[in-house]
Amino acid sequence: MRALLVREPGRPPVVGEHPDPAAGPDRTTVRVTAAPVVPLDLLCASGTSYFGRPAVPYVPGVQGVGVVEESGVLPAGTRVWFATSAGMAPGDGSLAERCAVPDADVVPLPDGVADPAVAALGLSAVAAWMSLTWRARLQSGETVLVLGAGGAVGQVAVGAARALGAGRVVALCRSDAAAERAARAGADEVVRTGGDVAALAGRLGAACGGAADVVVDPVFGEAATAASRVLAPAAGW
Ligand SMILES: NC(=O)c1ccc[n+]([C@@H]2O[C@H](COP(=O)([O-])OP(=O)(O)OC[C@H]3O[C@@H](n4cnc5c(N)ncnc54)[C@H](OP(=O)(O)O)[C@@H]3O)[C@@H](O)[C@H]2O)c1
Repeated sequence: MRALLVREPGRPPVVGEHPDPAAGPDRTTVRVTAAPVVPLDLLCASGTSYFGRPAVPYVPGVQGVGVVEESGVLPAGTRVWFATSAGMAPGDGSLAERCAVPDADVVPLPDGVADPAVAALGLSAVAAWMSLTWRARLQSGETVLVLGAGGAVGQVAVGAARALGAGRVVALCRSDAAAERAARAGADEVVRTGGDVAALAGRLGAACGGAADVVVDPVFGEAATAASRVLAPAAGW
């Protein structure tokens, strides 16, 4: 099959021929239709991740969308999202014509959402959604502050907070491009990084109308320190 191949960590991957994935018990084989490149892919392929230097060559891609070809748990033809451990453990990922993953890592998809959209949302959307719903238990009318709001996780957090009934959504962004993306995702106000932590906390507090009930933080560092100073009592993080 054709696949994207990391032949040397830290070097750009190349397109080449690679053996088809082996089917096996408790594994589902998927014909891939869309796969994103996410920060975790770049980190693993750099060879400097906390998972260690990956064995090469390997196919990168920690998630994707496709159609089941062979599976013990789903009928062939089922449209699915799937996760892989490519770059984190030996084995190949989603940036190839085919991919085989444990049955437990495959999720059937409803109709009505295009494959590239599901692939682009992927775990970034799950991270944002679970932060708001499971972790922070966002309530209707609450004020949500999203750090790194122009990123993949941040944009979904802004949009999801809106959809979940937040009263006010404030975005913290670094670059002009990120600020534009956060505004497009539905932020009521975009605050820019810069200055010292006290000044940033002041701008965040003003934008939140006093305090934030929920903070979504995919950034950490000074942004998180500033956000920690504008938390409402019993706020979610
Ligand atoms: N647990 C999970 O399942 C899960 C899933 C997805 C992501 N993540 C993690 O979440 C984090 C974000 O991922 P992502 O996909 O959203 O990344 P991304 O698309 O690269 O977005 C990161 C955003 O943070 C901004 N940013 C970076 N450093 C900043 C700083 N020092 N101050 C302010 N803003 C800063 C960037 O601004 P610019 O646009 O200006 O560069 C960018 O908009 C990563 O650590 C990722 O590993 C976890």
